[in-house]
Amino acid sequence: MGDRATGQVPNYDLGIGITEGPSRTDFGGADRETLLVTKSAQLRRCWHPVAFVSHVGGGPEQRRLLGVDLVVWRSSDNIIRAALDRCPHRWAQLSAGTVVDGRIICPYHGWQFDPTGTAVVIPQLSKSDVIPPTACLEMVATREAFGMVWAILDRDEVGPIPTLPEFGDPSFRSIEVSVTRYETNAAAIIDNNTDATHVAFVHAASFGAGQDPMITPPDAHRTPFGIEISAAELSIAESPDTKEQGSRQTKTEMWLPFTQISRMDYSDGTTHILLKGCCPIDDGLTDVHLTVLRNDVENPADTEGVIAFERGVELEDKVVLDGLPAEFPLDVRLQTHVKHDRPGIEYRRALADFIHSAG
Ligand code: FES
Ligand SMILES: [Fe+2]
Repeated sequence: MGDRATGQVPNYDLGIGITEGPSRTDFGGADRETLLVTKSAQLRRCWHPVAFVSHVGGGPEQRRLLGVDLVVWRSSDNIIRAALDRCPHRWAQLSAGTVVDGRIICPYHGWQFDPTGTAVVIPQLSKSDVIPPTACLEMVATREAFGMVWAILDRDEVGPIPTLPEFGDPSFRSIEVSVTRYETNAAAIIDNNTDATHVAFVHAASFGAGQDPMITPPDAHRTPFGIEISAAELSIAESPDTKEQGSRQTKTEMWLPFTQISRMDYSDGTTHILLKGCCPIDDGLTDVHLTVLRNDVENPADTEGVIAFERGVELEDKVVLDGLPAEFPLDVRLQTHVKHDRPGIEYRRALADFIHSAG
């Protein structure tokens, strides 16, 4: 039981949870910290997935990251580039322009920019005129990983892009499922994925059908990248490959700030891996890029069926998560917890430490 006067939460290492608590008015003071993604300088120093590589084709794409509009395009050196979506001339949106021979062309007066963002053609100038040295885009660094384009607003990076050794391993196939837009904070989406107790309710129409809410509380601990969650072995009526009764062991890595990698090992030897890369578009707005890896290369399940199932699960979560506030409670005293919520508490604490680590 927590201390009602101070709002201290109990020691969850002992597995003790609050089942009743002080009224909301006892909590909720101005000193109780919440996170709005656009207000955090630390998040600008992190890599975030802004698109699937496969979605960046012949034209410019507009994306928003932490409230900042970006243009993303494939440049003449076949590298995916990003810049602020603002032409240096009259601030037109380059994302409304075109890409020709890998050069991005502004729709307003036709200025053309090379892969470094430097204007190389200004149609109004003759060859003898000098192109102003400030005729440059404000470039944003990008990298490609796991079929996603990652971008960082501030080059003073504070954390790596997550690692996923199975991606590219020939014993796994990769399925790009979807980008789902949620109307809530990116941290709330990761928190949802730390939480096994919602499955019996939110996913009652799919994989949570008939699930007993009285599950064994999962274990969670800090790692250098964030937290790792181990769920108790779960009996399942049907294994993915053999269709026989078996069991599933799930381990989830939450990479700070907003990436989830869950590995589900089935007793029949099948492994499914879920990669969820959350892009914090703005306060209260998040795109979740979902890719699934499966080691069923020899006898693959129907890909369209896999996509439809995973997409359906996302939409079930969306119904609830879209109603959550834009602010995410970093201070665990703002909410009431029970013993099953320990992974979510660990995530809040790890995220708060990470946000504060810039000083
Ligand atoms: S605003 Fe882009 S060329 Fe003028
Ligand atoms: Fe869910």
